[in-house]
Amino acid sequence: MYLSKLFITCVALMVASLCCVTPINAQNLRPIIGILSQPTDGDMAALGDQYIAASYVKFIESAGARVVPILYDMSQDDLKTLLSQLNGVLFPGGGVDLANSPTYYDNLKLIWSFVIESNDNGNPFPLWGTCMGFQELCMLAADNLNILSPFDSENYTIPLNLTAAAQTSRLFSLASPAVMTALTTLPITMNAHQYGVSPATYTATASLNTFFDVLSTNGDREGKVFLSTIEAKNYPIYGSQWHPEKPIFEWWAEEVMNHSYDSIVGNQYTAMFFVNQARNNNNKFTTVTAESQALIYNYNPIYSFDIDQDFEQAYYFNNASTSSFTF
Ligand SMILES: *[C@@H]1O[C@H](CO)[C@@H](O)[C@H](O)[C@H]1NC(C)=O
Ligand SMILES: *[C@@H]1O[C@H](CO)[C@@H](O)[C@H](O)[C@H]1NC(C)=O
Ligand SMILES: *[C@@H]1O[C@H](CO)[C@@H](O)[C@H](O)[C@H]1NC(C)=O
Repeated sequence: MYLSKLFITCVALMVASLCCVTPINAQNLRPIIGILSQPTDGDMAALGDQYIAASYVKFIESAGARVVPILYDMSQDDLKTLLSQLNGVLFPGGGVDLANSPTYYDNLKLIWSFVIESNDNGNPFPLWGTCMGFQELCMLAADNLNILSPFDSENYTIPLNLTAAAQTSRLFSLASPAVMTALTTLPITMNAHQYGVSPATYTATASLNTFFDVLSTNGDREGKVFLSTIEAKNYPIYGSQWHPEKPIFEWWAEEVMNHSYDSIVGNQYTAMFFVNQARNNNNKFTTVTAESQALIYNYNPIYSFDIDQDFEQAYYFNNASTSSFTF
């Protein structure tokens, strides 16, 4: 009797210690992703102090997650509380001048530190950056705002030029052959940037090249090469200089978004991958009420295409101090 109980206890202990060596988190099937807002400018300012393009929200929602807006001017205490209840963050594209936007930049750095710390502490917390978001990831890893170079790559769709690191990357090794064929042979990755990170800057910047692997590069219209997809070596942090959300959700006829079946399949994959990374995180809102008050469903997107053709719809917000969020 005693012996068999002891045996069972030992087996249980062995299993428990195996689990500790290789933590296997239960999958979180209700992931919630925070998307960072940014200040409005020009005619958009009449609709609110800050905005999130609806295409990023749909991008996340279409892959099986819900979205919470992260107002860029939240107090740092509120931001920390909010982050600890989310399962991942997306930095969208846009046009914030970090050097002259201290509130935005301070909160961007807070999110970065939170993500690094959470992962270092064994709680996997993914972060995705698109276009400006990609550049932000590079500047945060390098801790340097002066790593961008000019490129002729607005309104420019091209296939990805993969590096050797892509084959063993987490991001691309999980993609189906159909997705990889689309991304690497068809003109479907939508570039909408005037700046980027050159391979020379990457090579010369130790903080950047020890942190990120480069998974793809592309040449601009003049053949100047920029990094187009990156993945952190030791963190679930990913960046695309291109816009996977645009071919699926943006429709400005004067831009070269490719709405073909293959383009949607290829671009959509990145959302499926990223949201799946967020299923490894088990953070939860402290109460059901706090969760429902934070969700983007409390806001309605506005069809503001006539004001800014970059986006069909956008969510507009006012100053965080005037918001009704309670944490
Ligand atoms: C494509 O990738 C190869 C190998 O990484 C690189 O040598 C070449 O410059 C790249 N070309 C472009 C246009 O990015
Ligand atoms: C985008 O590129 C297409 C094709 O090159 C061109 O016809 C269109 O005018 C461009 N749009 C803008 C806004 O530059
Ligand atoms: C869009 O992608 C399809 C492949 O799915 C390709 O055949 C077509 O040429 C592309 N169109 C443009 C305008 O790039």
